[in-house]
Amino acid sequence: MQLTDDYGRTIKSLRISLTNRCNLRCLYCHREGDNRELKNESTAETFVNIVRAAKELGVSKVKFSGGEPLMRDDFEDIIRALPELKDISATTNGTYLEKRAQSLADSGLNRVNISLPSLSPEKYRGVTGGDVNTVLKGIDAAVDCGLTPVKLNMVLLKGINDTGIGDMMDFIRQYDGNVILQLIELMDFRGTSGYSVDIDGVEKFLESRASEVRERSMHRRRKYFIDGVEVELVRPIDNSHFCANCTRLRVTSDGKLKPCLLRNDNLVDVNNKEPQEITGLMKFAMGNREPYYKG
Ligand code: 5AD
Ligand code: SF4
Repeated sequence: MQLTDDYGRTIKSLRISLTNRCNLRCLYCHREGDNRELKNESTAETFVNIVRAAKELGVSKVKFSGGEPLMRDDFEDIIRALPELKDISATTNGTYLEKRAQSLADSGLNRVNISLPSLSPEKYRGVTGGDVNTVLKGIDAAVDCGLTPVKLNMVLLKGINDTGIGDMMDFIRQYDGNVILQLIELMDFRGTSGYSVDIDGVEKFLESRASEVRERSMHRRRKYFIDGVEVELVRPIDNSHFCANCTRLRVTSDGKLKPCLLRNDNLVDVNNKEPQEITGLMKFAMGNREPYYKG
């Protein structure tokens, strides 16, 4: 059984926001498009039931995000309770990884994406309010515990980190392919358009230095291989390919299925519902899926 929407898009992965809470304050934060004031986080049981239902419907990958997913002390419990899947990953700011990478790996987490807008302590603090050294220790811990490949998420910000791409590539080279750089186009959720970087320019820069370029089908992401490091460019904006190839279903921290990152008018509440009912509602949510950028 597979879940396919009216546009021929099959759902292969879930992206679950476990909480809206975060210990950082990034200037670009979109809280996963889930920025309403809400505190009623779903229980571990609801999230596990959602994953069980999704697995019945053919989903084999789950990514946990936030807010900051490690704000939840029961994250390891949630992972341990999941049915067997091909890929379980998390997107984290990395500040708690030094302490928890091992317990997460032991629970069954396969890999992590870590947000790292800058290597400079001053710039990192300016963008996130946090301490970059804590995150660097978290990256080492994640690599040591085999949460690999670790992807570093670098949201590009004009005048802040757009000239730091080369340094970031030099930084990840030491990890011998265990760390991949993911450059992300800024989505303007909070009046930050002044920081938008010319992505065509970045693409040309990467192309000119790459020995090889590959394209992933999902979201047509390009991968560049440059002097022994792998760099991916994520361009969500005005990208009809982004939507046409979207195989994700999102889940909000209060237990709602969210068929599209960019819309809030078609959420389906499955909080505290029985597994059977969740399966039915998941099929219904799929009926509500429509590409936002139709190309
Ligand atoms: N634009 C693009 N990416 C963003 N992220 C957070 N806010 C934005 C934004 N406005 C990314 C960060 C983080 C991930 C959860 O989402 O890279 O790693
Ligand atoms: Fe938002 Fe993530 Fe930054 Fe936290 S770490 S403020 S959730 S972008």
